[in-house]
Amino acid sequence: MPLKAPKGTRDILPADSARWHSLEAEARRLCRDFGYHEIRTPLFEHTDLFSRGVGETTDIVQKEMYTFNDKAGRSLTPRPEGTAGVARAYIENGMASLPAPLKMYYYGPMYRYENVQHGRYREFWQFGCEVVGSAGPGADVELISLLNMFFTRLGLPKTDLRINSIGCPSCRPRYHELLKAYLSERLDKLCGDCRERFQRNPLRALDCKNEKCRAELSGAPLALDHICNDCAGHFEGVKSGLTDLGIPFDIDKTIVRGLDYYTRTVFEFISGNLTSLGSTICGGGRYDGLIGLCGGQQTPGVGFSVGIERLFLELDSYGKAVPEQAGARYFIAAAGDGVKASAARAYAAKLAHNLRSVGLSAETDLNGRSVRAQMKYADKRRAAYVVVIGDDELNSGTAAVRSMADGAVTNVLLDGFVEYAMKLETEN
Ligand code: HAM
Repeated sequence: MPLKAPKGTRDILPADSARWHSLEAEARRLCRDFGYHEIRTPLFEHTDLFSRGVGETTDIVQKEMYTFNDKAGRSLTPRPEGTAGVARAYIENGMASLPAPLKMYYYGPMYRYENVQHGRYREFWQFGCEVVGSAGPGADVELISLLNMFFTRLGLPKTDLRINSIGCPSCRPRYHELLKAYLSERLDKLCGDCRERFQRNPLRALDCKNEKCRAELSGAPLALDHICNDCAGHFEGVKSGLTDLGIPFDIDKTIVRGLDYYTRTVFEFISGNLTSLGSTICGGGRYDGLIGLCGGQQTPGVGFSVGIERLFLELDSYGKAVPEQAGARYFIAAAGDGVKASAARAYAAKLAHNLRSVGLSAETDLNGRSVRAQMKYADKRRAAYVVVIGDDELNSGTAAVRSMADGAVTNVLLDGFVEYAMKLETEN
């Protein structure tokens, strides 16, 4: 039986990669415009980083990590998300000595052992931004405005932004007591996970996906109603910053997010169209305690991650055009006898090489096909120009260049071909 890709993973085929490239290029352009630089952290980290950073009681750590022991018996985990790795890298590389804030982004695959469904995979890609070393609401607003601009530039007509504040270590204990009092009256109706969460981290119960628990918890006290004055001031700053930039948002007191590191602001962009997805395209928030938790100096941070596959689904649902994959601009066809060396084939290979040397893309036949078959192939590859080299061309020193767009044919001296092509490109 032929082997299949593991459940929850997908191939990005050559025909799809043009749209992946164009989305990634847009993300990189946007980061440049906002002054964010790329950080690349390892695809796997010590398991402890995620247990500590993301949180022992989260679904990610309890159920979704692909943890394994390496040959020396170290427990390692393919990253389920990017923020903990960025925090570790920040500490390990002494980035606290760099001018603050540090504005970073990443673009790469993440791994979670999840129930696979539409828009939910085991290997998925995230584009994420993190601002480390800025405590004020301006950083939260900048990140949200970056996201808003990303979606606008991609031509998404609608995404819903929801924001909330879940407080800080000074107001949270009081809120936890209130929540625990509410939960304690309903413990026998909650699932095993929630009963355990009740002891260790009651806020996590609000994130439970079990329908019965969700119904029981619908009247639970909500963090936003119990935040301290400092957190309320921060939240006011976020709201007024967004209003000043004309970015619409809703306050959703029920957002808690599935990771433990969040403090104060949390936000999500929900699909504007794909109700079947019923999920977030992007999630983020502030994590003022994470760097301290990972062993660094207390340093504030805030960030987000966009799920790339979900973003594609959203773009598809609006019928957004997919860029087509094109081959090289020049196809140099050669007459000659099969794969056997011929003067024409050798010349075609050399001409393609010379074009590539000056930065022009060119292909030539690798399979010893007839000229007719090469022309068909060039057409399918969407070459812009095709040249046929045969004995006549070699004898006369000229060849006909056919523009595939309009069929126009131009005779060009072979000796000056590269210069001709370079001129053509600057004119186009
Ligand atoms: P998250 O909410 O776990 O946050 O994930 C962010 C986004 O990744 C989600 O909104 C979704 O679009 C996408 N995503 C998550 N899981 C899957 C999956 N199984 N399949 C497809 N897409 C998925 C984080 O990861 C945080 N690190 C965000 C953050 C950055 N907070 C601060 N900085």
